[in-house]
Amino acid sequence: MAVPIIIDCDPGHDDALAILLAAGDPAVDLLAITTVAGNQTVEKTTLNARRVCTVAGITGVPIAAGCPKPLAQRLAVAADVHGESGLDGPWFPEPTVEAEPEHAVELLHRILTGHPEPVTLVPTAPLTNIALLLTRYPECASRIREIVLMGGSTGRGNRTPAAEFNIHTDPEAADIVFRSGVPLTMCGLDVTHQALATPEVLARLDGLGTDLGHVCAELIRFFASSYRTLYGFPAAPVHDPVAVARVIDPDVVRCVETNVAVELRGELTRGMTVVDLHGRTGRPVNARVALELRQDLFWDRVVAAVAALGPQAGIRSPYGR
Ligand code: RIB
Ligand code: CA
Repeated sequence: MAVPIIIDCDPGHDDALAILLAAGDPAVDLLAITTVAGNQTVEKTTLNARRVCTVAGITGVPIAAGCPKPLAQRLAVAADVHGESGLDGPWFPEPTVEAEPEHAVELLHRILTGHPEPVTLVPTAPLTNIALLLTRYPECASRIREIVLMGGSTGRGNRTPAAEFNIHTDPEAADIVFRSGVPLTMCGLDVTHQALATPEVLARLDGLGTDLGHVCAELIRFFASSYRTLYGFPAAPVHDPVAVARVIDPDVVRCVETNVAVELRGELTRGMTVVDLHGRTGRPVNARVALELRQDLFWDRVVAAVAALGPQAGIRSPYGR
């Protein structure tokens, strides 16, 4: 039985691949896509979600825009990683998929209260929408099967030496989510840095011979150029689909149960996820933390999902198909 999920995202190159994995893999039922400010403004992340759904032929999945800024600090986008559009690199057709008029939090509330079974939330962005949902509608917590998020790290960060981007962008929101008591799995940099899109992966995507396969390869090439420049990575760590893959097949990642707390006051460490791997603090377990990725299973799922979604009908692409 497919697991019902909602992705809350900030497309974003890796968010785009997370959407494709969720829409193309039969093990999950993508009920909706909500967007939030993070990698880019919420206007741009919403346009990008519409562009991804258009090029992949994803229809019937409502898209709703959410919070335009973090709860308690100004927004600092990641144009250095994702470009001015938030999805620089590949060609995209003009979007034909529209966004819903309602706010993301209202869409989340409507689906969670109306769906016949509890829904898994997969945030791959700052947690502003999710924190606002849990604060405005606390009764929704019982309708959430699990939160499986991309964010945090047991060690170094990427936005700062101590903090990972999604948590650093809105630490107050992350603190609310980690303290909520909702079952939670954290797919942080420890595991997502294992999701490297090697030349072999790029060849598999291009080898599909579809517009979407080429778009995905181009997304990854742009993302890889950012990571090479900023961090010296040999290949792009495709973070966000790891969270979706965890829902699709829990065996794709190995997790440990532990306490995760969010640093809110540290001058140098604000936004750090403090992960008590050895139980030294006495703080109660509040999360599963993913540590290892089965890269073969992961990439097989991603490539298969992209293959299932392409090719596009009636959209003229520059790829000469
Ligand atoms: O740190 C990586 C995370 O920040 C990913 O979700 C990426 O899309 C950015 O949002
Ligand atoms: Ca993201």
